[in-house]
Amino acid sequence: MLSINKISSGYGKKQVLYDVSMEVKAGEVILLTGGNGSGKSTLLKCIYNLLPLWTGSIEFQEQNTSKNKPSDLIHNGIVYIPQKDFYFENLTVLENLQISGNMLSKQILKERITEVFELTGLEKFKKRKPFDLSGGERKILAFGMGLIHKPKLLLFDEPFAGVDAKNTTTLLRLFKETIIKPDNGVIIVEHKDDVKPLYTRKIKMHLGNIKRKLL
Ligand SMILES: Nc1ncnc2c1ncn2[C@@H]1O[C@H](COP(=O)(O)OP(=O)(O)OP(=O)(O)O)[C@@H](O)[C@H]1O
Ligand SMILES: [Mg+2]
Repeated sequence: MLSINKISSGYGKKQVLYDVSMEVKAGEVILLTGGNGSGKSTLLKCIYNLLPLWTGSIEFQEQNTSKNKPSDLIHNGIVYIPQKDFYFENLTVLENLQISGNMLSKQILKERITEVFELTGLEKFKKRKPFDLSGGERKILAFGMGLIHKPKLLLFDEPFAGVDAKNTTTLLRLFKETIIKPDNGVIIVEHKDDVKPLYTRKIKMHLGNIKRKLL
């Protein structure tokens, strides 16, 4: 479903990715690992067109994505949940879910929020702002904001970072019940072992040029 073909990219003059190629097939859950600074988040940003490719190309469902804005990609089924919190601190949990799905029709958005509340247990926090949630609860909010779009391909950067055992169990259940399906693909970037029950394939990123040989 996703094909990354010899891409290179980086920031200003600093090159981070060198000729990276990888495939995600329907039903696959890819774990992307590697040391700090090895380019995992950079690769996700490239897939989501937040960072231009210097060379190479990316295809999603056999369509080149180079001209797609992130809003087009969401519409086509790719959802990216960044490593850093991506919700609005001055909005409540409910408002964050509403703003995340603001391109959906009113009726569908209402149904999806009800569904997300049922699955995640976030309803009890609906009037709270993210600042007043624990780190684990904030990750569940991030997951819920992604789930609003019913992704076909989910890119989740460090879902388990700062998450305790109880919320880890919730997140693992959410992945299994909602995202991991034969028609969907998932890329999880993670340092922690909590992801072990989920992934079907592991790819390790390495700093700099070595990547060329190993990916
Ligand atoms: N906006 C930016 N401007 C300049 N350099 C950046 C920027 N974002 C990241 N980098 C650099 O790009 C390199 C790769 O960063 P990236 O965030 O992709 O690493 P990572 O593998 O996700 O690391 P971590 O495990 O710490 O999250 C690092 O050297 C980082 O300092
Ligand atoms: Mg990162």
